[in-house]
Amino acid sequence: MALNKFELLDKTIKDSEKEVDQLLKCKTFFEAESLVKGDGLRSILYFCDNIKAMLQLLDSGMEGKIDLVYIDPPFNTRSSYNKKLRLKSRSHSLDISSETYNDNWKNLGEYLQMMTIRLMLIHRLLSEKGTLYLHVDYRTSHYFRLILDHIFGEYRFLNEVIWAYKSGGTGRRSFSKKHDNILVYTKTDKYIFNPQKEKSYNRGFAPYRFKNVEEFKDEIGWHTLVNLRDVWNIDMVGRTSSERAGYETQKPLALLRRIIQTSSNEDSIVADFFLGSGTTAKAAMESGRKFIGSDSSTISYVTVSKRLKDDNLGSRIFADFNQITATPGKLTYRILKNGEGIVLYLQEYIPPRDELYSGKVDPEKLSSLVEESPLIFLDYITVIGVNSERMILSEYFMPDIPQQIMIPDGYKKVIVQLVDVFGAVQEIAIGGDSIEQDGRTEA
Ligand SMILES: C[S@@+](CC[C@H](N)C(=O)[O-])C[C@H]1O[C@@H](n2cnc3c(N)ncnc32)[C@H](O)[C@@H]1O
Repeated sequence: MALNKFELLDKTIKDSEKEVDQLLKCKTFFEAESLVKGDGLRSILYFCDNIKAMLQLLDSGMEGKIDLVYIDPPFNTRSSYNKKLRLKSRSHSLDISSETYNDNWKNLGEYLQMMTIRLMLIHRLLSEKGTLYLHVDYRTSHYFRLILDHIFGEYRFLNEVIWAYKSGGTGRRSFSKKHDNILVYTKTDKYIFNPQKEKSYNRGFAPYRFKNVEEFKDEIGWHTLVNLRDVWNIDMVGRTSSERAGYETQKPLALLRRIIQTSSNEDSIVADFFLGSGTTAKAAMESGRKFIGSDSSTISYVTVSKRLKDDNLGSRIFADFNQITATPGKLTYRILKNGEGIVLYLQEYIPPRDELYSGKVDPEKLSSLVEESPLIFLDYITVIGVNSERMILSEYFMPDIPQQIMIPDGYKKVIVQLVDVFGAVQEIAIGGDSIEQDGRTEA
């Protein structure tokens, strides 16, 4: 018999509590190690399921250490989301689209349980001064109010922020749905809260000239500054916006900047476990906060790496690409030694047929494209030096993927990791002596 909503919530919470107990007994996936190094904690990015990331954080002493968690998870929309790309060679171009993540669930119970387990782990990671911002919409916000009341305690509810925006499409038989709901809960009553100001325009935009009230004038008119209300009008990331990373569901930096300024201090650790295009990472790092993030999609990995480029240097990256479903294609390469050292020469990369045909790519167009630009389907290459830990040495992004990569010395092993435009990953490991060889990887 189908459960009613209250029975469903009750079951979700009980099952999630059991699951969290089990998870906490498991050995964590990544080698547990102290994440606090001599130079203080560095930013950390995980590319794997966020449960693995959170378990490792808990296991390595991060319980109660994070001041701010913002998450913008899948909304249970029953859709899948894509990244769209135009590949261009000298005389050909090809539009492709690849899936970044899928928001289809067997039923509401499965979705709520997936979320509740993660919210329980986040609650453990938050510090005494900590705040959670859970970004959802009308589909599930009513369930999450009750779930979070249970996990945090109903007195720890701080606000429901309404993020209002303009976007295409209007409602004909209902009001147009143009806002998201951000539920804000604090771990204790010692939470960080730095009040922000907003403009409040005077009636008629004329000055009031009240005693002791400071007034300002801008291109719209006279206004005062008041403490920020809980309805935020912030534009979505538009088609022509310079911050656009090409990732559907990308949120605006202005939204994250406001949240970070309000609920964290300069010495705070900020986290986002559903990182997407890396908006929270970008906003946290530019304001000098340490950042912890995770996402299970390789398209996110590439997008975030591109977006953070300079800010990201020195971050630690943990990645588990075993669960990635995209199949890598065929890469031909040579490893050569010349007077200057070891060189990896990349000859050609052809993605697997399935990926291409699902995108209905014309095979002739494809071969002309690859003939002109043999590495056009590679999106990102990172060179990682391995000694006692992995460290990013250099990165290359489409359309600047070189055919020759110098392999730096001084490392036990160097891993060259290649991600294609569909999010498939493959690695070439070059040990101290593995030189002068031809290589071919196949799906
Ligand atoms: C709505 S998007 C986040 C968008 C992000 N706020 C931004 O501004 O780009 C949700 C993200 O959650 C990721 N995701 C979904 N389930 C996950 C899981 N179990 N572990 C880690 N990431 C997950 C998806 O890959 C997707 O990138």
